[in-house]
Amino acid sequence: MKKIAVLTSGGDAPGMNACLRAVVRYGIYREYKIYGIERGYAGLIKGDIFQMYPRSVSDIIQRGGTILKTARSLEFKQFEVREQAVENLRSRDIDNLIVIGGDGSYAGALALHKEFGINVIGIPGTIDNDLAYTDFTLGFDTAVNTVLGAINNLRDTNASHERVSIVEVMGRNCGDIALYSGLAGGCEYVLVPEIKTDFKEVAERVNLSAKRGKTSNMIVFAEGAGDKTELISTIKQITGRTPTVTTLGHIQRGGSPSNVDRVLAAQFASYAVDLLCKGEGAKAVGIKDNKIFAMDLEAALNEKKDIDKNLYKMTQLLSL
Ligand code: F6P
Repeated sequence: MKKIAVLTSGGDAPGMNACLRAVVRYGIYREYKIYGIERGYAGLIKGDIFQMYPRSVSDIIQRGGTILKTARSLEFKQFEVREQAVENLRSRDIDNLIVIGGDGSYAGALALHKEFGINVIGIPGTIDNDLAYTDFTLGFDTAVNTVLGAINNLRDTNASHERVSIVEVMGRNCGDIALYSGLAGGCEYVLVPEIKTDFKEVAERVNLSAKRGKTSNMIVFAEGAGDKTELISTIKQITGRTPTVTTLGHIQRGGSPSNVDRVLAAQFASYAVDLLCKGEGAKAVGIKDNKIFAMDLEAALNEKKDIDKNLYKMTQLLSL
């Protein structure tokens, strides 16, 4: 019987479990034996590989994180280590692998395909939404909803105390979490790594919006958007007000996946299994203009992500 192995790798993202569940059950429906690999590439190297059945994925659709566990494996960058990992697949007659993760995970999968001919399919799973070839990654919608919950709470206290507040969100290189939560949360300013922002200008706009009678001033700050301490001191200096700072951190990585992420998980997983049925390898699954698709894995990795300038402009226009 044909076999597919599946792993989750890199930062965990809500929806990974729902995706694993769909890979296992849809894969079995398509007459494959399915194998789970623990701790991403680290488990592949060690041979932590076990067969999964429909009941192995019971009661996980609603859970954040990943029951397979995940890791960031630096070791996997070495050729000899990858050779060992492939041996662990070959000795079990497995030549199909589904990798749920971000760009680092995709790079590992691509190496397995190029060097050893393993059929690999990448499913985008990362809260950052930093893969350029797809409009959305698994976990992003849930993470934005988590940030929105925090923003809603902060707005209450901001309005009551007429405060300025900074909400720091994840995104070292990609500002999508900040952008979407800033727009959906009705925030005054969104600071992202892709666009250099003059902190003085932000502070001056805080003054301006106070003059306009706004009671709440919320700045969403992506962690890679510059020096937060400098932003705080510039605001203090120019406005005479001390902003409250809330860093959401890893809270954004957990939580029950949203409807959007659960449905996307099922769509990505079934599409990935169908590709393997057709004998395809080295493909990345994604969603573009609301349609599930796949493209060459290497080409997908080479695409450069940029921030959506229209949405960015919209956050500014709507914060008058
Ligand atoms: O998954 C990407 C990401 O969420 C980044 O936005 C963040 O900086 C990073 O992971 C933190 O991950 P960890 O500390 O778990 O390695």
